[in-house]
Amino acid sequence: MAQGTWTAVDEYVSGLLAPRDEALEAALRASEAAGLPAIQVSPPQGKLLQLLARSIGARSILEFGTLGGYSTIWLARALPEGGRLVTLEAEPRNAEVAAANIARAGLGEAVDLRLGPALDLLPRLEAEEAGPFDLVFIDADKAHTPEYFAWSVDHTRPGGLIVSDNVVRDGELVNPESDDPTIPAQRRLHEMQAADPRVEATTIQVVGAKGHDGLNMALVA
Ligand code: SAH
Ligand code: DHB
Ligand code: MG
Repeated sequence: MAQGTWTAVDEYVSGLLAPRDEALEAALRASEAAGLPAIQVSPPQGKLLQLLARSIGARSILEFGTLGGYSTIWLARALPEGGRLVTLEAEPRNAEVAAANIARAGLGEAVDLRLGPALDLLPRLEAEEAGPFDLVFIDADKAHTPEYFAWSVDHTRPGGLIVSDNVVRDGELVNPESDDPTIPAQRRLHEMQAADPRVEATTIQVVGAKGHDGLNMALVA
């Protein structure tokens, strides 16, 4: 089993269950044309995020790391009328591309895109009483995932979900001496969750078009 099989299965699943969609395809094309890295969630993962948001009736979503807005579009489409998604992005170029993609998808009203390093933006969200959120998707700079998670636990409603991407990284998660500088942060995330009685969490390994990685999910009590 290897990459070719994982990609083929992703394509099979997306073909039937996450079929081609003009706004999502246009977002990918525009992101590629603008030179953004193709590190967005895969279509089956985007669909999973959307199903998670729908299954808990999410009306208020927070996303760390917008890139070109691909995961943003999947998530924002789960919102009911009047629902809101706040997404945080540090790179002006990415935010510009994302804003156009989100507008093209007809989600400009529901999505509040904020530019800046997420840690700088959080105090403002707090002051605005933007939370509590029903669902948080953490997918920005991986070294700060534990800090984003800690803030999110304090700002997610009971029964809400915090989902973190890229926590396994080719299995490096189990290597304390990993060369990947983000691994200590992913290990710390798991240790924080193990010690925090307010959350119940797990990590599911993911293989697919993006290789071997993992998605962590925490339910807030
Ligand atoms: N969620 C997107 C992919 C995000 S890639 C999707 O699946 O479609 C990670 C993004 O986080 C990049 O756009 C990067 O610029 C952004 N980022 C990096 N450091 C950040 C920070 N400190 N605060 C906010 N965003 C950051
Ligand atoms: C990569 C993948 C991601 O999902 C992400 O959010 C950031 C980087 C990567 O494969 O490098
Ligand atoms: Mg990711």
